[in-house]
Amino acid sequence: MEFGVATFSAVAAVVISKLCVVMENILKKVPEIRADVRCIKEDLEAIEAAIELHGLNREHVIFIAQLRRLAYDIEDCIDRFDAKKMVLKDFAKEIVLLKETSTNTTNRIQNFNFLAEEDDRIAQGQGAADVPAELQNLGDYNPNCLLYLCLFPRNHQVRTKPLARRWLAEGLVQGEHLAVKNMKILTNSSIFSSIQRSNNGEVRRCQPTNETFRYISQQSVSENFVLFCDGAAQPSQGKSLQAQVARRLSVHPSANVQLNLPQDLSRLRTLAVFPAGEVNLASYEDVLDFARYQVLRVLDLKECTHLSEEHLRDIWSQVLIKYLSINLGSIAEINSSIKHLDQLETLDLSGSQTVTVFKEVLLLPKLKHLFGRFQLSKRDTFTPGWLLTSGLQEFLKRKSKLETLAGFVTNERLGFPQLLNLMKQLRKVKIWFESDASERNVKVLSKSITEFIGAGVTQPDLNRSLSIEFEECSGKYANNISQVAGILASLKLRGNLAQFPPFVAGLSAIEELCLWSTGLSWEVIRAGLSRVRGLKYLKLIEDNLGRLDILSEAEHLKAIERICVVCKQRLEVAIAARPLPNLVSLHILCQDLHRILDNPLVEITRMAKLQEVALHHQVDDTTKDELRRIAYGHPNTPKVLFLE
Ligand SMILES: *[C@@H]1O[C@H](CO)[C@@H](O)[C@H](O)[C@H]1NC(C)=O
Ligand SMILES: *[C@@H]1O[C@H](CO)[C@@H](O)[C@H](O)[C@H]1NC(C)=O
Ligand SMILES: *[C@@H]1O[C@H](CO)[C@@H](O)[C@H](O)[C@H]1NC(C)=O
Ligand SMILES: *[C@@H]1O[C@H](CO)[C@@H](O)[C@H](O)[C@H]1NC(C)=O
Ligand SMILES: *[C@@H]1O[C@H](CO)[C@@H](O)[C@H](O)[C@H]1NC(C)=O
Ligand SMILES: *[C@@H]1O[C@H](CO)[C@@H](O)[C@H](O)[C@H]1NC(C)=O
Repeated sequence: MEFGVATFSAVAAVVISKLCVVMENILKKVPEIRADVRCIKEDLEAIEAAIELHGLNREHVIFIAQLRRLAYDIEDCIDRFDAKKMVLKDFAKEIVLLKETSTNTTNRIQNFNFLAEEDDRIAQGQGAADVPAELQNLGDYNPNCLLYLCLFPRNHQVRTKPLARRWLAEGLVQGEHLAVKNMKILTNSSIFSSIQRSNNGEVRRCQPTNETFRYISQQSVSENFVLFCDGAAQPSQGKSLQAQVARRLSVHPSANVQLNLPQDLSRLRTLAVFPAGEVNLASYEDVLDFARYQVLRVLDLKECTHLSEEHLRDIWSQVLIKYLSINLGSIAEINSSIKHLDQLETLDLSGSQTVTVFKEVLLLPKLKHLFGRFQLSKRDTFTPGWLLTSGLQEFLKRKSKLETLAGFVTNERLGFPQLLNLMKQLRKVKIWFESDASERNVKVLSKSITEFIGAGVTQPDLNRSLSIEFEECSGKYANNISQVAGILASLKLRGNLAQFPPFVAGLSAIEELCLWSTGLSWEVIRAGLSRVRGLKYLKLIEDNLGRLDILSEAEHLKAIERICVVCKQRLEVAIAARPLPNLVSLHILCQDLHRILDNPLVEITRMAKLQEVALHHQVDDTTKDELRRIAYGHPNTPKVLFLE
């Protein structure tokens, strides 16, 4: 299918399914509106089917633009009604109008012979000529997900998880499983030239190849998918496509250049601002005039450091927002006004400072992912019995959709430590212990952590992940967490630990473990893990490891697939092949690297599954040459990297 047709079909499919849901659920008892909605739905279905069957007539790109606009307008109307931002009466009015537009468009298509004659249509082969090889045969994916990459500056390493959350927030895909599926297809293809993997081998950041980027940029311009605005030129609004309205805007302000924003931004769904270098607010203040936007779903101001309280107040009135990522700068508090964003799914306020939030953040009905360094306001925990009277207990237990809480600080204040065990949907938690953590908080939190880990046994496929930072409390609370035969998909501990934490040694299984500046030696870590099973990914950012020797078989290390060690001090290494039959990737980033006695550093030749080895870029040349030589002779010819 031609790219432009595929992008329209994907949009139409989403709208059609939303129309069905509205008819089924809300309009059952309102037959008049229901009939109109059905009519729109049938028009769309017929058009979509006809285009898929007959293809596009080359001259009539304008029609597809009108159809796309119609589809987006219908979706906006449904979304506003669905989110209760529009009363039934206004919805009915708008539907009548949309139905008329739909009928008019369909008529025009018939009058002007929109659908292609057999020999006039864009031949599959012909259209495919400019499609880069890596985009052909990608399989069944949603091309709008691919186009969305145009939002980011060319040199940007796009983070995959937030990208998938934006697709969902924008409505490009419906349902998490489809976001995951599309991400899998894209990351498993060769459209990315640069890929950074996380500890567990999943793609964490990516950047498209030049060919892919050029192609999708062209497509994006011709469809007005993402508009750019950097002040250098008029926004890239194609002349023939004036029927199109901006739905996504990527702003790249630079110093002392006046932006040239498009007039009508009322239908914008995504706004992202990426200031280049030292840019002051005056260069992009126009963009932050939120009165321009009426249906914003995704707002990314992470790289703007100039937000004020007034900006925040205006953001709280963007009631359709589902994905909000901002840099709070010097603003230290998010108050109850956030309750207006009742469609919000992702709130990303991550940055260095601690943000005080009012309970209304936790009461947001659709919130799934919360990023930042939070504490609860004193107002909410001031009165005795606050848990019950605040409504938090009831809501968090029964209604909260929060899956990611990453994370909160534990000091002497009440709040999150008392709430943790109420959130039953949580899968990913991050906790900072501060030096003034109170006895009371440590106690309740330790209990909740034990429960969180223990629950992994009954729901192992929920993949619970836990990250605890002990840096500010010099690790003294790690031993207060009781031992439980729990299961974790991922555990990260940072900060000095006096001994291997008993709660980790007591785990039945763990897939991914990261220890960072714990000060533990390899001997202690290995012994600590001796009863834990299933470890696949091990990352150690440690300076006190001493010797990293894995020479004899040990049941608890057998499943390991990826090892990454970062060490600034002297490190002695000897890794044999037999104990690690599943090893795929090995990174040892240490400049002062030594063998142990006569053992090889790593017995690469006999590691049957090895695909990648990396050493520090400043190890001596002999070591580098030898590694290259051995890798070259290996049946898999694993990738050899020298990294900083
Ligand atoms: C549909 O077409 C009719 C007749 O041309 C016109 O009067 C009407 O305004 C159009 N409606 C819409 C919503 O475009
Ligand atoms: C990834 O791509 C390869 C071919 O490039 C294919 O064989 C494999 O099935 C794909 N894997 C997934 C999970 O799609
Ligand atoms: C991609 O383009 C950039 C400049 O736009 C250039 O510096 C780089 O070398 C190109 N990469 C490849 C692999 O051609
Ligand atoms: C909440 O904060 C906003 C600014 O972020 C402010 O405009 C508003 O007045 C505050 N609301 C309350 C109830 O304090
Ligand atoms: C934590 O453990 C230490 C020593 O194991 C103990 O003295 C302290 O009372 C414990 N704190 C809490 C809150 O349980
Ligand atoms: C949990 O992880 C496993 C393996 O890593 C994966 O197959 C599964 O889909 C994950 N489950 C969820 C709910 O993400």
